[in-house]
Amino acid sequence: MTLKNFFIGLSQNQILNNMAKKYGLKLGAQSVVAGTNIDEMIESVSELNTHGISATIDNLGEFVTEKKDATDAKNQILHVIEAIHANNVNAHISVKATQLGLDIDEDFCFENIKEIVSKASKYDIFINFDQEDYSHLAPTFRLLDVLSKDYDNIGTVIQSYFYESMDNIERYKDYRLRIVKGAYKEPEELAFQDKKDIDENYLKLIEYHLQHGKFTSIATHDHHVINHVKQFVKAHDIPADQFEFQMLYGFRKDLQYELAKEGYNFCTYVPFGNDWYAYFMRRLAERPQNMNLMLKQVFNKKTNTLVGIGAGAFLLGRLSKRKK
Ligand code: FDA
Repeated sequence: MTLKNFFIGLSQNQILNNMAKKYGLKLGAQSVVAGTNIDEMIESVSELNTHGISATIDNLGEFVTEKKDATDAKNQILHVIEAIHANNVNAHISVKATQLGLDIDEDFCFENIKEIVSKASKYDIFINFDQEDYSHLAPTFRLLDVLSKDYDNIGTVIQSYFYESMDNIERYKDYRLRIVKGAYKEPEELAFQDKKDIDENYLKLIEYHLQHGKFTSIATHDHHVINHVKQFVKAHDIPADQFEFQMLYGFRKDLQYELAKEGYNFCTYVPFGNDWYAYFMRRLAERPQNMNLMLKQVFNKKTNTLVGIGAGAFLLGRLSKRKK
């Protein structure tokens, strides 16, 4: 089992997920999660705004299996919309369909998302539909197709590891799109496995959408990609208001500030809430160097962090014995 698969396995572990919700931000997650409540999140967003950076806010949570949890998540997101408006911060919202009940019932999820999109449209707030694993790709596009008949404040994500992404980007070119490499484990029948192929396709998708599409969000921490885009937009006279760079909260902070200072539109993805565990494990899967965040906590902070890591290591050992 690779380290990447190991952390993806951990991200899907329900016991650890539930433990994490109970015990608040631990294992270094506080460096990459902007608090557990709306007030803390708004404070972080205001701080980003002072640096000329906008935010896309993610009320953490995904793969919900109970209607009550999906309804709670919807209500919380409605509060976030109110908070953006009341505090006049420069921010929009990212939602995950599985947090709003996609795995329970597509119609129920549709009604939840519709309520969110409708409220946000009143305040002219954009709603991005994050893309999750392949099994939720088509249903998420379907939600977009149906809602776009009545609303224009919505868009989604294209993941470059899927073979079908070029077809999808052509089909959805009239939407504001965030383009990413892709964060889930997908089989080789569906997705490139080799980093070089994923990166190559990533540049193709970005270039296509910059030239033919609506607004493009280039969401990456990869400075090679960022430098390539800088040259590409210059060479092709792509106006600055047609695109932005995006990165995750707490990652490459200096580069985030630098790009904003250079005059590029910049938007930080700001996750907050108690349901931080799966999100954090996926970040470790992408970049095991992020383990530094955890280790600093172990050596600097409280013993209960050690307990958390111990539990993680124990389950990790068990997982590594299982076949994928
Ligand atoms: P990648 O991990 O490929 O790294 C490339 C290089 O960049 C590294 O070799 C290193 O040189 C440099 N680098 C990367 N991270 C660094 C760091 N922290 N510090 C220093 N150097 C670093 N995925 C998904 O499936 N659905 C979604 O909806 C989203 N949404 C989303 C929003 C935003 C704003 C971001 C930034 C990302 C996502 N993702 C996502 C995750 C995305 O698919 C991808 O998994 C991660 O961004 C990791 O890929 P990168 O392109 O950032 O660099």
